[in-house]
Amino acid sequence: MAIRKIMVVGAGQMGGGIAQVAAQSGFEVVLNDLKPEYVEKGLAFMTKLLDRGIEKGKLTAEQKSATLGRIVPSTSLADAAGVDFVVEAASENLAIKTQIFRALDAAAAPGVILASNTSSLPITEIAAVTNRPESVIGMHFMNPVPVMTLVEVIRGIATTDAVYNAVEGLARAMGKTPVEVNDYPGFISNRVLMPMINEAIYCVFEGVASVESVDQVMKLGMNHPMGPLTLADFIGLDTCLAIMEVLYEGFADSKYRPCPLLRKMVKAGWLGKKSGKGFYNY
Ligand SMILES: NC(=O)c1ccc[n+]([C@@H]2O[C@H](COP(=O)([O-])OP(=O)(O)OC[C@H]3O[C@@H](n4cnc5c(N)ncnc54)[C@H](O)[C@@H]3O)[C@@H](O)[C@H]2O)c1
Repeated sequence: MAIRKIMVVGAGQMGGGIAQVAAQSGFEVVLNDLKPEYVEKGLAFMTKLLDRGIEKGKLTAEQKSATLGRIVPSTSLADAAGVDFVVEAASENLAIKTQIFRALDAAAAPGVILASNTSSLPITEIAAVTNRPESVIGMHFMNPVPVMTLVEVIRGIATTDAVYNAVEGLARAMGKTPVEVNDYPGFISNRVLMPMINEAIYCVFEGVASVESVDQVMKLGMNHPMGPLTLADFIGLDTCLAIMEVLYEGFADSKYRPCPLLRKMVKAGWLGKKSGKGFYNY
C-alpha cells in the first residue's frame, strides 16, 4: 500500500518532531494526543522551530504554512481508520503502548503498518497484543528529529520483509538514513550508549573523578560533542534508569546493573535538564 497519510500518536518531543518531518516531506499527517491542548502544545513548538528555520533562511514562509497545513489534530485513536501508516511516540511505558496498539489494531485497515518509536521496549511484545504482529515494527527516531538523520528500524520476531522494506523506504522518503536492527533489549543505540553513560556515573559514584572531569575526558579525548553526564541530563535521568533496567532484566546480566547513584538521583527527583537539576544545575 502506498503511504500518503501518516498518523503520529503522541505530540510530545518526539511525536511533534516526527509529525513535522513527515509534513515537511509532503505526507499528510494526523497528529494525535490525549487532549487537544497537548496537540496544540506540540504544534506551537513546531511553529517555533519552523519560524527559526525561516530566520536562518532554510525555509520560506510558504513552506512553513504548507507544512502546518498538512497536519490535522486528533484526540481519538479511531482516526487510525483513515490513514496508511501509524507511528506511535507516546510515553515510554509498556502498559500505555499495548493499550494504544490494541486500539490502533482495531481501528486501522488490514495491512496498515503500526510502528513504535520506543527507545527500549520489546517490539515483539507490543506486536503480540495485535492481530497483525507481522505488520508491527520499531521506527526509532533520534532526538531532535528534524536534526538527527538516523532511524533504527527494528524487526520484531514476526515482522515480514515487505513491512521492513516499506518502513525503510518511508524513512528515506523522510530524508532519514535507516539502519536495520533485530529486536533485542536496547536495540543498538541504547545498548551501546547507556552502559557508557552508566559507567560514567560509576566513575563519579566511586570517586574516580568529578562530573566535569568525566565529561572533559570524553569530549577532549574521544571527540564526543558532549560529555556523557551532560548527555544523561539532556535525555533525562529517569529515562536513562528505565533503559538500564530494560538491559539488566532483558539480558539477566550483572554488567548492566544501574549505578546506585543514578537510582538515588532519580528517587530525589533530580532528573536532569527537565527538572532543573541533574549532574548540573539548569
Ligand atoms: N526523548 C528522547 O530523546 C527520545 C528519543 C527516541 C525515542 N524516544 C521515545 O519516544 C517516545 C516519546 O518520547 P517523548 O520524549 O516524546 O515523550 P513526551 O513525554 O515528550 O511525549 C509523550 C506524549 O505522549 C502522549 N501520550 C501518552 N499517552 C497517550 C495515549 N494513550 N494516546 C496518545 N498520546 C499519549 C503524552 O500526552 C505526551 O504528549 C517514547 O517511547 C520514548 O522512549 C524518546
